[in-house]
Amino acid sequence: MELRIFKDKQGLSRAAADLFVEIAALAIENRGRFLVALSGGGTPAHLYRLLATAPYRDRVKWDKSFIFWGDERCVPPDDNGSNYLQANDIVLSRVPIPVNNILRVKGELSPQEASIAYAQTLKEFADPGLEWPRFDLVLLGMGDDGHTASLFPGSQVEVTSPTLAVTADYQDRPANRVTLTPLVFNSARTVLFLVIGESKATTLSKVLSDKSNQELYPAQRIQPQDGEVIWYVDESAAAKL
Ligand code: 6PG
Repeated sequence: MELRIFKDKQGLSRAAADLFVEIAALAIENRGRFLVALSGGGTPAHLYRLLATAPYRDRVKWDKSFIFWGDERCVPPDDNGSNYLQANDIVLSRVPIPVNNILRVKGELSPQEASIAYAQTLKEFADPGLEWPRFDLVLLGMGDDGHTASLFPGSQVEVTSPTLAVTADYQDRPANRVTLTPLVFNSARTVLFLVIGESKATTLSKVLSDKSNQELYPAQRIQPQDGEVIWYVDESAAAKL
């Protein structure tokens, strides 16, 4: 595990953009393509903005990059709650990426249907005989409660499928979502968590402590077997480490 603490969101986002560009180049050089899973939430917005502007924009071979999502809300792709819409507005519509390289979750379907369809999409990118590809980079955030992607506290730790339909209530609101599962995240080459703000400090100290409670802190379920997990956090989120 690697942990880097940044003064502010700007420095953190620049470092994340540098890493994104570096991993993309290496993946394309070694394997001919770059597979990345994006996250929703507010934290990566500045990173996405940087990726859409020089010099980062011109340092990524977008035609060899394939964009997935770690989770999605079940809303149409033009709804403000859509993780796809956020990334599309801020970065994807502003860079020369072929539309076929954007592999969004079909949020307009029911969670079950969208989950099954996304599992099929993953399989199409997998090596023969496997169910999902090995991502070069997975971006994740962490909620104040320790959730990551749409893996919420109290959800089942042991899963056997690469995608899940999430239909439980969350913070008193129905959460209809699709999420990739730790099976997929933990086979990634690099998982990068971006965590900002003092509201995350207590939970971050629990998640990064030696005490394991994966049921309560889903972010602890992310432990790539043969890859690396990197945490970029700002000083306020790191205050209790
Ligand atoms: C989502 C996310 C989710 C997010 C965390 C942190 O779809 O909402 O993928 O897991 O990363 O809730 O969100 P913030 O970055 O807004 O704190």
